[in-house]
Amino acid sequence: MSKLRWGVLGCSSFARRRGIPALLTTPSAKLVAVASRSKEKAEKFRSEFGLARCYGSYEELLDDPDIDAIHITTVNGLHAEWMLKSIEKGKHVLCEKPFTTSVEQAEKVAAAAEGSKTKIMEGLVWRFHPQHKQALKAIEQGEIGDVRLVRAAFTFQLQDPAVAAIRLHPELGGGAMLDIGCYPVSSSRFYFGSEPSLVNVRGYVHAEYGVDVHMAGSMEFPGGVSLIDCGFDAPFRTDLEIVGSTGRIYFPKAWQPPQEATLYLNDEPIVLPATNQYVLMFEHFSTAILQGSSLDWEVTDAVLQMKAIEAIIHSIHSRQPETVQKRQS
Ligand SMILES: NC(=O)c1ccc[n+]([C@@H]2O[C@H](COP(=O)([O-])OP(=O)(O)OC[C@H]3O[C@@H](n4cnc5c(N)ncnc54)[C@H](OP(=O)(O)O)[C@@H]3O)[C@@H](O)[C@H]2O)c1
Repeated sequence: MSKLRWGVLGCSSFARRRGIPALLTTPSAKLVAVASRSKEKAEKFRSEFGLARCYGSYEELLDDPDIDAIHITTVNGLHAEWMLKSIEKGKHVLCEKPFTTSVEQAEKVAAAAEGSKTKIMEGLVWRFHPQHKQALKAIEQGEIGDVRLVRAAFTFQLQDPAVAAIRLHPELGGGAMLDIGCYPVSSSRFYFGSEPSLVNVRGYVHAEYGVDVHMAGSMEFPGGVSLIDCGFDAPFRTDLEIVGSTGRIYFPKAWQPPQEATLYLNDEPIVLPATNQYVLMFEHFSTAILQGSSLDWEVTDAVLQMKAIEAIIHSIHSRQPETVQKRQS
């Protein structure tokens, strides 16, 4: 069976903990190389994971003719630049969330991808967990009526000063909305199956860095409203509730369930066996490229996601409601 040949761009903590171990066990993927700005760090990763090659610059990875697809795991502020360079070199890209740090960048990436043979997807991995397929099926079968409200949260305590210096740095794409707010935003879009027209949020902006550290507010959809919050200064919370006209679905651990996943359909628990959602994501992307089939989420989805996020960030700073369509012009 042929496999898609992968390279990892950025020897990040995420790549070490999640990305690389998942790529190494994805049936249709073959991880060929890693790249870092530092050759020493790349070599460490290469030997730790038993990989064939490593590079001390991102450029060299993109020049490797034996690589078909790139997993971008650098800081958020570099995602757009390295997606554009990957597309230029004819590589497919799975880019970690958030896709970019602005709508303008996302549209540039989408335009470049359109004129090429490459496929691009945002790595919003939670969408690949079977618990959400189960919930969608229940909704389609009318088990909670029409979706009226989505309530979603992602908060944690950002305590490590070294990590905080990156997660808050404006030029590196810092801020809670870009980092973790993308989960509540994407799940609202996912469960309403449409795009928000208006967002109205309030948040706290870091006095030194000037980026949002905590926010809460609403997004208005054609069929209802979502209530979202995210932040770097609250206990670990990752829950999601879908309220329909006649019932509800509740996920205590919506974005990355531990071993087993439990969701509640009209208060009845449904327990799903342990799975690796990262492997499911890499397998989906790899087989789509190998078989020439479409991705579940094409680059257009990533642009729409950035439009909602950008409107929310503007609303945090303006302290006013922001129209998403207005920001689309
Ligand atoms: N899907 C998920 O579950 C998930 C979870 C966590 C994070 N993520 C995403 O994965 C990406 C990496 O996150 P992380 O937490 O792993 O971050 P991290 O450990 O800080 O890694 C970021 C990497 O970016 C590279 N980099 C390039 N320029 C840099 C600069 N000026 N300062 C610091 N690093 C720079 C570095 O790689 P080199 O030194 O090798 O060049 C660094 O290792 C982010 O986009 C994040 O949103 C996704």
